[in-house]
Amino acid sequence: MKVKGQPYRTIWPGADGASVEIIDQTRLPHEFAVARLRTVGDAAHAIRAMLVRGAPLIGATAAYGLWLALRADASDEALASAGSELLATRPTAVNLRWAVERVTAWLAPLPPEMRAAAAFERAAEICDEDVGINRAIGAAGLPVIRALAAAKPPGVAVNILTHCNAGWLATVDVGTATAPIYAAHDEGLSVHVWVDETRPRNQGASLTAWELLNHGVRHTVIADNAGGHLMQRGQVDLVIVGTDRTTACGDVCNKIGTYLKALAARDNGVPFYVAAPSPSIDWGLRDGLREIPIENRSEREVTHISGRLPDGSVATVALTPEGSGAANPAFDVTPARLVTGIVTERGIAEASEAGLRRLFPEHYGPETHERD
Ligand code: MRU
Repeated sequence: MKVKGQPYRTIWPGADGASVEIIDQTRLPHEFAVARLRTVGDAAHAIRAMLVRGAPLIGATAAYGLWLALRADASDEALASAGSELLATRPTAVNLRWAVERVTAWLAPLPPEMRAAAAFERAAEICDEDVGINRAIGAAGLPVIRALAAAKPPGVAVNILTHCNAGWLATVDVGTATAPIYAAHDEGLSVHVWVDETRPRNQGASLTAWELLNHGVRHTVIADNAGGHLMQRGQVDLVIVGTDRTTACGDVCNKIGTYLKALAARDNGVPFYVAAPSPSIDWGLRDGLREIPIENRSEREVTHISGRLPDGSVATVALTPEGSGAANPAFDVTPARLVTGIVTERGIAEASEAGLRRLFPEHYGPETHERD
């Protein structure tokens, strides 16, 4: 996507041939800054501290992290220890494990002297593949928006609500939940996006709003609690969100607060779609509520907030009384029964084992049975 007219991905190899560059998302929306990763430790830090975030981008960063590790030491021990270091950064998005396992499986049989170059190729391939998948998700989801637009008087916008940031900043490019939105906007359909601010880290207010603004998509930032009210008033035609891990039966884990949006959508007859690239589907899991690890992040993300002061500087201030505790579960699970459809690179699947199996039969053995 373009930033001030210049095309960017969220991650790319440094021109020095020895590093990786990323957009530092902790600085947005107030400052557009690029950070350089030189070691696997830098990559692990970037994921943990959320300079990069979003399931697909976490996976891509881990792949490049393995390359950085192997440039320094390509032994079996270094490969294993880099994988463990990266896997320990964030527990919920399965793309991290997917990328580490995929690159490691490719490298392990190679002689050490060939590993770094092969890791670089695999990381670049994962990035390109992500962009292709996201474009395909855009094409698969676009007809849903077209149909809603066709049912409206000419020029009246389709109102789409999204949660967190599943835009191009969360991926290598294009985004997942935003891919159909950008596709609709680019073909001239009138769309308007309700952007959940997404407390406590405000990925909606800071990142989704920033990227929609950059791309010229009409949008309005709302407090997380406003979505249900807007749905009751008929002001939301469609909800579309991303996912960090979806089970083989269609349960969807995504940013905390997604479940409440799905409940409100169901109560108001609003279609609730999840954009899920296949690397974010955990084919080994069946029960999202019991089996998906939920990341607990620092209390400080709840008790404090950052913003820009009138002099342009960015400051962090306390929101809560000193001494009040806080809890910060970062993701929740929306059961498959609340999901209208899962938009994948192969088309839209019903949120069930049968629906996903139809599109991805290679991930299901003949003995798998539908859950009660
Ligand atoms: O904690 P984050 O910002 O990494 O969480 C991101 C999300 O929950 C996204 O919706 C999800 O990763 C899908 S990104 C295409």
